[in-house]
Amino acid sequence: MKILAIETSCDDTAVAVLEITRGRFKILSNIISSQVKLHAKYGGVYPMLAKREHQRNLPIVLNKALRRAGFVNIKYQKGTSSFYETANTKKGPNIDLIAVTVGPGLEPCLWVGVNFANELAKKLNLPIIPINHVEAHLVANFVRSNFQFPISNFQKIFPAIGLVVSGGHTQLILMKNFGEYKILGETRDDAAGECFDKTARILGLGYPGGPAIAAEAARHKPKAISYKPSLPRPMIYHKNYDFSFSGLKTAVLYKVKGEGLKAKDKKYIQAMCWEIQQAIIDVLIYKTLKAANDFKVKSIILGGGVAANKELRKQFAEKIKKEIPDSLFLIPDSKFCTDNAVMIAAAAYLHFLEKKPKAKKEMKAEANLEIG
Ligand code: KG4
Ligand code: ZN
Repeated sequence: MKILAIETSCDDTAVAVLEITRGRFKILSNIISSQVKLHAKYGGVYPMLAKREHQRNLPIVLNKALRRAGFVNIKYQKGTSSFYETANTKKGPNIDLIAVTVGPGLEPCLWVGVNFANELAKKLNLPIIPINHVEAHLVANFVRSNFQFPISNFQKIFPAIGLVVSGGHTQLILMKNFGEYKILGETRDDAAGECFDKTARILGLGYPGGPAIAAEAARHKPKAISYKPSLPRPMIYHKNYDFSFSGLKTAVLYKVKGEGLKAKDKKYIQAMCWEIQQAIIDVLIYKTLKAANDFKVKSIILGGGVAANKELRKQFAEKIKKEIPDSLFLIPDSKFCTDNAVMIAAAAYLHFLEKKPKAKKEMKAEANLEIG
């Protein structure tokens, strides 16, 4: 079967076509149009600007995804009665299902994808499966060519602790089974990705801040400077599973202001980036492992843009191997950590397998949709 998926929850316009044959995923196309450059000058995402860009880009991205997936001569044409134009026929592509992110995310952005999916589904007479963006970030773990479980057996990883760390979310989720979730804790203020983005802005680095801070941190040589910026690890030893990253951002702001000219020094910025990254990693690892021990789960699974961070991936793997070697550690390929539509299609397939929720004819955007 073939699934066409649409993702517009934040600042990436993404469409993918996923084929599933004999329990294996094959990515036929994965097109992402990033708005990073547009938002870079503001240091964050402006919802109404992002919405306009999605409206402009979605037809182009869809057509590219269809072409890449082998549906040649098929085109989306807005406002015409023949939705698809093929060389000889008026038939649409042989897609079985449409999947779309309905939430959580920026409401105006979500509606662009949802309206588009509704229109497509009507024209092609196809069912739509609504997808939760946070769940999809975790499902991204199942999209790899050499996945060790057949998809039909994916339930074997449960119960699991899921950690979603992105620009909009930092959530620790107890995954009892697929579709059976309980949020154990989440950030009380800024998400981990947001903290990377905001501190990068304070240091005059680019947007998105995560990759910029990671790159500077990698250049840091501990012996290169005599002073060492130190930062708090907010809420690390609190008994709950909640997070808070805005205090970390404020600490960076005060330190940088207090240092005056020193804060403009290349080596200082590298050391500060290393410390920011390490403070975030320390908190995420400590809390996730605590949850995994407390709930005696079989697996720890990560997702979201921050999970692309190389140091975080390395340190998580090392710590789990040392402290809970019997548990399985899953982390998506880096390219599937950040927003994409392949994870949306994969989540739709798992829902289709499990028959929950039922496919519908029309969707609504739900900006505050919760997992669980
Ligand atoms: O999942 P995502 O693409 O979008 C949301 O759902 O929010 O995550 C984007 C976030 C941004 O805050 C970005 O700075 C962060 O992920 N990010 C990283 C890295 N790559 C992206 N953070 C740390 N290290 C990275 N390598
Ligand atoms: Zn995301």
